[in-house]
Amino acid sequence: MLRVEGLSGGYGDVQILWDVNLEIEEGGITALVGANGVGKTTLIRTLAGALTPYTGRIVYGGKDITKVSQSKRAAMGIMMVPEGRQLYSGLPVEDNLVMGAYVRRDRKAVKKDLEWVYAILPRLKERRKQLAGTLSGGEAQMCAVGRGLMAAPRVLLLDELSLGLAPVMVDTLIAVLKDIQSKKKISILLVDQDVQVALGIAEKGYVFVHGHVEISGDSKSLLENPEIQKAYLGI
Ligand SMILES: Nc1ncnc2c1ncn2[C@@H]1O[C@H](COP(=O)(O)OP(=O)(O)O)[C@@H](O)[C@H]1O
Ligand SMILES: [Mg+2]
Repeated sequence: MLRVEGLSGGYGDVQILWDVNLEIEEGGITALVGANGVGKTTLIRTLAGALTPYTGRIVYGGKDITKVSQSKRAAMGIMMVPEGRQLYSGLPVEDNLVMGAYVRRDRKAVKKDLEWVYAILPRLKERRKQLAGTLSGGEAQMCAVGRGLMAAPRVLLLDELSLGLAPVMVDTLIAVLKDIQSKKKISILLVDQDVQVALGIAEKGYVFVHGHVEISGDSKSLLENPEIQKAYLGI
């Protein structure tokens, strides 16, 4: 679905990503885990087109999109749910949701998708007129996920889904993600500092260390890997 080949990148002359090779599988959930500061967000932003890589290729549905802009990538179905939500705090929930559809021209379908988002995340419907800045952490994350879904994505790049959320809220969001992922065939890249959460729901996982992929494989085997248990799971 989306493949990264020999990607290096960063901020100006501060290189963060080193020869990254990774694949987000079609219709599946792929996890990207790693300690704080190893470059997960930098990779997500590079995939979404917010950052231009130094070298390497990003291939989407067989097409090289390395030089395609962020808004064009969004229109092609690559959407990021950024770390820290980044909602418009002074605008109501519904305006934030509709913002996610900014690249779409199919107004009728956008309206339908709004109802769909409200159906899968009913809390947002209850709070649709509430200013986003007054939402709880969990509701804000729901709103950010909902906004991402409003882009009608084929690939959803989720940066730090569980950060700061109560376990019950994490469970709710994961249940929703699993459901949409299977029904709508959306491919998900899930970045989460909680290795157990991320590998628990993904089929495949990548472990990031210092801006490159250190280990990859099916999630189950990663969770059983003694090195990973020692480094990330406190076992
Ligand atoms: N805008 C920026 N300019 C320069 N360095 C940055 C910028 N944003 C992040 N970094 C640095 O890039 C490294 C990786 O950060 P990040 O991608 O956010 O890691 P992670 O998401 O894995 O915690 C960190 O050392 C961070 O300080
Ligand atoms: Mg991050």
